[in-house]
Amino acid sequence: MQHGRVICDVTNGIASGVLRALFLIAIAGCTGAGGAAPASAVSQARSSSPESSAGPRCNAQAGLASLDASKASLAQTYAKRFKMGVAINGRVYGDGDPAAAALVAAQFNRVTAENELKWQSLERQPGVLDFNQADAFLAYAEQHGMEVHGHTFVWHHQVPAWVFQNDSGGPATRQQLLARLEQHMSALAEHFGSRVRYWDVVNEAFNDDGSLRDTPWRTIIGDDYLDQAFLLAGKHFPDAKLVYNDYAMEKPAKRDAAVRLVQGFKERGVRIDAIGTQAHFQLTTPTLEAIEASLAAFAGAGVEVLVSELDVDVLPAAYKNQGADLSVNAELSAQLNPYPDCLPNDVAEQAAQRWADIFEVFSQHSEHVHSVTLWGVSDGYSWLNNWPVRGRTNYAQLFDRQLRAKRSWQRVIEVAGQAP
Ligand code: G3I
Repeated sequence: MQHGRVICDVTNGIASGVLRALFLIAIAGCTGAGGAAPASAVSQARSSSPESSAGPRCNAQAGLASLDASKASLAQTYAKRFKMGVAINGRVYGDGDPAAAALVAAQFNRVTAENELKWQSLERQPGVLDFNQADAFLAYAEQHGMEVHGHTFVWHHQVPAWVFQNDSGGPATRQQLLARLEQHMSALAEHFGSRVRYWDVVNEAFNDDGSLRDTPWRTIIGDDYLDQAFLLAGKHFPDAKLVYNDYAMEKPAKRDAAVRLVQGFKERGVRIDAIGTQAHFQLTTPTLEAIEASLAAFAGAGVEVLVSELDVDVLPAAYKNQGADLSVNAELSAQLNPYPDCLPNDVAEQAAQRWADIFEVFSQHSEHVHSVTLWGVSDGYSWLNNWPVRGRTNYAQLFDRQLRAKRSWQRVIEVAGQAP
């Protein structure tokens, strides 16, 4: 049963205005970041959902592909250019969502664990490793012969507070924090061996202006914490590719900071193999030129490029600097959630064109692009239903909430026929 997907379909039948807002708040978290409801609650909500008094605002079928998704696979279509990946979480594999798991196996040849390999998921208490979810993820990936991407060691989110504290609850010392990082990596290396092919060693270290972000890692270890993290990762994961991963890398200042990071590593003999550019895009921003310039800059720095977290947000911007800063959030309002029932045809067309344009650019740089990974299997699984506003209905992916291929998917497939 795919609770997250089903319950979000329920929201599509609810009248607009206050009732919808209250309902959405009540079930906030259902799409993207989790939340489940019993099937009885779902069917009850369905049968009691009134028709919108404003009448149908759009046709739910309008944005769908005319091509049957079983006739084409993203992975096969792009096989000569780059791998096609997707981020999945524990609601997909195992007993989670067999239809989504089958879709992933058919369409993709690479997977990233959306949350299950983060520190908080693996080692919530000091020295107590819980590999259950991670093992289920790896078993699923290996069953389908998919390349595995590990995400992530050093980040300012989803690392438990104890990692940064001494025994009395005060700040840890540099030596303590480095030792904890090494112990954590060592435990993961022992457990996973070389089954995880790529690791995001450090995630989101830069501000958008290219300066180093203030995080506990930086405050406690010092500005060389990225060097230290990559050196430790190189020691414990000699067979894995080591990645620096960040968002808004199309902004010149941030892009250049990442290039300088790579250059500095090379001068100091610190191994780095790839840059992950997250690619949380909107309908018109960043520009194709900016996307292209960042791919070219990273390729020029002599590392592989991974498009690591692609989605296209079609909703109104809730704040000026769109990116993926999880500390930003805004109140749910009808203005910020304009398509609760379905996506109007013109917006679906705009999104499809945007996806096609983006894949044209990726294809032009396929020599250096190792992979393109979508951040979520479907519209229903996307984190963008809950960020930066909880409980919105976004349409950020290539498959809809019923896992049907969208026009955007078809255009991405078609681009591969046109591009060089
Ligand atoms: O695991 C807890 C669970 O124990 C608890 O009961 C539940 C209650 O809310 O929360 C669960 O944690 C949630 C976690 O996802 C796992 O489902 C967090 O609340 C939720 O905030 C978290 O969101 C994730 C977010 O990173 C924050 O870590 C999103 O699913 C995930 O898509 C998102 O991914 C990030 C990348 O790691 C880095 N780049 C940006 C990208 C999007 O934000």
